[in-house]
Amino acid sequence: MRAIQRLFLWVSVCLAVLGLKPALAAPADDNWWRSAVIYEVYPRSFGDANGDGIGDLNGITEHLDYLKDLGVDAIWITPFYPSPQVDFGYDISDYRGIDPQFGTMADFDRLEAAAKERGIRIICDLVLNHSSDKHPWFVESRSSRTNPKADWYIWHDGKPGGTPPNSPPNNWQSIFGHSAWQYEKARDQYYYHAFYKEQPDLNWRDDRVKNAMFDVVRFWMNKGVSGFRLDAITSMFEDVALKDESYLAGMNAYGERNIARLYTDNLPEVHNILRQLRKVTNEKAGTVLIGETYLPNVGELAKMYGRNRDELQLPMDTQLGLSNKLSVAGFRGKLQDAETKINGNVPLFVFSNHDNPRSINRYGDGKHEGEIARLLATLLLTPRDAALIYYGEEIGMTNRDPKSKDEVKDPIGRSGWPKEKGRDGERTPMQWNGDTNAGFSVSKQPWLPVAPNYRTVNVSSESRDPNSLLNYYKKLIRLRKVNQQFKKGDFITVDNSNEQVLSYLRKTSDGKAVLVSMNFTASPQTVKLDLTTEGIKGEHSKLILASYPNASGSAELKDLALPPYGSYVGEVVP
Ligand code: GLC
Ligand code: CA
Repeated sequence: MRAIQRLFLWVSVCLAVLGLKPALAAPADDNWWRSAVIYEVYPRSFGDANGDGIGDLNGITEHLDYLKDLGVDAIWITPFYPSPQVDFGYDISDYRGIDPQFGTMADFDRLEAAAKERGIRIICDLVLNHSSDKHPWFVESRSSRTNPKADWYIWHDGKPGGTPPNSPPNNWQSIFGHSAWQYEKARDQYYYHAFYKEQPDLNWRDDRVKNAMFDVVRFWMNKGVSGFRLDAITSMFEDVALKDESYLAGMNAYGERNIARLYTDNLPEVHNILRQLRKVTNEKAGTVLIGETYLPNVGELAKMYGRNRDELQLPMDTQLGLSNKLSVAGFRGKLQDAETKINGNVPLFVFSNHDNPRSINRYGDGKHEGEIARLLATLLLTPRDAALIYYGEEIGMTNRDPKSKDEVKDPIGRSGWPKEKGRDGERTPMQWNGDTNAGFSVSKQPWLPVAPNYRTVNVSSESRDPNSLLNYYKKLIRLRKVNQQFKKGDFITVDNSNEQVLSYLRKTSDGKAVLVSMNFTASPQTVKLDLTTEGIKGEHSKLILASYPNASGSAELKDLALPPYGSYVGEVVP
């Protein structure tokens, strides 16, 4: 033990004896999120413990050993609070409870404790932008113009001279289609909803709303959760002048003209709230704020961390993983952006989630899905980043989209059919094994059909196959934990003019480097690397991990052969 550590220990012991907490330095643990692997669980579809066809909290608890074995640091669970389920939980009617479909608070406490025992942290989804229209706050707010909560939501008069309900204040549109304004007779006014009309937007210009929500945050922190994923965070403010948006080219899936979203998306006021929220989460060290941040460019992403690192620790970087095109230059550029344009903060890369078609459906070429899935895994798990895995990506789950409109569960899939099929396809039950309902549920009919590939694409069969995608994920996640270059090495792209193969180094200050090379094409490629320009003495590479069979144990850097879509990880040696 070094002297400084001994001193810290001594001071800690003395303070502990006095009943005080040491405030000298943040334990490394408080920064757990910096290199974390965070796994998104969509609770309706993960595990159904009571056999009603809908996944539940006990179903997550039952599968914690799997998640521990996979090696994840935390799970983000999408909303499980009481909700009419219009938007499958994103319409919350009580921020401090558990929807009976998902279980009870005792179930949550058990899940939390069981996760903790396994070293897995829980991250809750926090929906600040809107509540359900059935939330008592809104029920009160809509009842009159004079009730105590009259200003808790965004209320406005219609256009002067118009006839309600068809004269909304302006032309703003809901992200889910149609006017963003809904008429309320009791007030003879309209309320604003960025999403469904059952999701009225809260008025964040009212401090009472803010304080009520910050208490919700404290409630879940006291329950032991380690962080929050902030839903729709860029939608929190709307321009008070209510200016009409201008129209853009084309029509949306709902049959309306596209509009700009200058006055309802990513307003500067958002940052003010994020700073205040961060102060609240700072009350409990180690609490992470993750943001649902679909932003137009890396500059806006950089702002989300805060000028003094006082906003979000991990706004989602959707620039990289949702680019939807396997382009070496594209990925290299986005990775470099994350290194140089977000002020040294940690990027949270995301390739998939419950709102977008699964990654393999967006990046696959119809022939090399297995290889491309491994390539995406390498891209997610080997840079200097925090990584988000959407449940089932690690086994190669694919979308199973509805075949007809009457099959659709997600309301936007019905209103937007056939252009917008909704998000059911990426939310199908987790594929645990080759048995009935893929082992997700014993019910006759799970809430969504299981994807037909479950007989081969499932946890049980992939666990037994050492060369499976699942085992490839496990090896990558393990590498992040045990290999010093992956744990704390810098990230440097090399061979920067190559358009077929993306290569980068993870390099520690002792000069040791690990090389990652990925073939982005359907043909074999050979890379010729000269690392002397990087100040690295090395002509060979010792294999650490490859996504393909029969990789040779030692390779020459000036002649490194990669099969179609192959990923190579090796230690650079003289
Ligand atoms: C976020 C959620 C999405 C939801 C929407 C409204 O985008 O991820 O599922 O529909 O917010 O809450
Ligand atoms: Ca259930």
